[in-house]
Amino acid sequence: MPHIKVTPISKETLEARAKKEPVPIEFVAHAINYDEILLGINYQDERFLLLYRYSQTEAMLKFEKITRPLKLSLLKEAIDLVAKVLEFEILSSNILSTRRKPPLFASEYYKKIEDFIDVEFDFDSVAIEVGFGSGRHILYQANANPKTLYIGIEIHTPSAGQLLKQIEIQNLKNIWVVNYDARLFLEMLPSNTVKQIFVHFPVPWDKKPSRRVIGVDFVNEAMRVLKVGGTLELRTDSDKYYMYALEVFSSLKKAKIGIQKNHALPIISKYEARWQRQSKDIYDVTLVCDELSPVDEKNYNFSFGKIRYNDDIEKILPKETKVCDGYFVHFERIYRISQSEIFIKCSLGNFSRPEHKYLFLGDEESFYYPSNPIASRANYQAHQQIKEILDGKCHSCR
Ligand SMILES: C[S@@+](CC[C@H](N)C(=O)[O-])C[C@H]1O[C@@H](n2cnc3c(N)ncnc32)[C@H](O)[C@@H]1O
Repeated sequence: MPHIKVTPISKETLEARAKKEPVPIEFVAHAINYDEILLGINYQDERFLLLYRYSQTEAMLKFEKITRPLKLSLLKEAIDLVAKVLEFEILSSNILSTRRKPPLFASEYYKKIEDFIDVEFDFDSVAIEVGFGSGRHILYQANANPKTLYIGIEIHTPSAGQLLKQIEIQNLKNIWVVNYDARLFLEMLPSNTVKQIFVHFPVPWDKKPSRRVIGVDFVNEAMRVLKVGGTLELRTDSDKYYMYALEVFSSLKKAKIGIQKNHALPIISKYEARWQRQSKDIYDVTLVCDELSPVDEKNYNFSFGKIRYNDDIEKILPKETKVCDGYFVHFERIYRISQSEIFIKCSLGNFSRPEHKYLFLGDEESFYYPSNPIASRANYQAHQQIKEILDGKCHSCR
């Protein structure tokens, strides 16, 4: 990632130079108790942060990973410009040499979780594959059913990249790739929209069942997003997982269960081929949704109401991570912009997929920087908790 090493300058000099030429630096925020400064950048209509880390003998200007813009070229240009504005003496730089990765994740078929807020699908139907691995099955399905949109969710980034490459090679227009945890993804989808959810050969996690994709919450969300008659299709070689899934599925009120053993599919994934060579049994458990679900109104509001900066904020913030049922809140570091304005670096939400954010608290307004957390249940619950803490109403935090 692009960075430059520079001769250190004092905080006062940095501040004075940033003020003299305020473009593209909007603000300077000094970490309390750390040798670190955040520079608020507004460059080519993107707002993000750069990090200036320093000691007596060396200093570095680099990207800040929470707010990093997607375009590497923009980041490099911004670092270069800021170095000029701050009149840095550059000791070394990798800005020119940072190799560009092929822009696979800039593909229109790569979707971020935020893209599913108020999503509308311009296809006859929608299907989902959870943990597509090498992508053989989803590619087969997408080729066979061009009017269906296939959303592939894969937690393993290189596999997501491989599928994006195949989409390009095979010129497919009906696959979206999401590099995210499937257990949290379904929550983003509207009710009654999906015709099929494939979960083929999920990792069995026999020693850590809590990591399994299939669980009561996942199956309930699956039933909510499935249309009436839609199916959740588990295929596994693990008899333990098969028994476990049957137990989870049987706990539901509004679903019919179908079971098959060693049923052949038109396409065989890499995993399946391995099990077939070992003559292992393969189980299919299909859950059919037979009830319409209510529309899921997600009225999550991430504003801070009347919460503003006050002089006691530093004392109020808990030092320890606050863990609640299904979510957590952690305050990591405070940066001061002025007497009455601070930035708080924090993480929040679900443990499997925490969100990292900056929180701006001023005397006129307070907000998440540069944007609100993703509108998920866990993030919203964590936000409520943050508000209580900032309001001094969270008694368990003291
Ligand atoms: C055993 S592989 C099976 C791959 C493929 N379905 C097949 O049949 O060849 C399981 C896949 O699920 C992915 N995975 C595991 N947990 C996941 C999660 N929570 N969300 C999305 N993908 C997940 C893994 O990265 C892996 O690629």
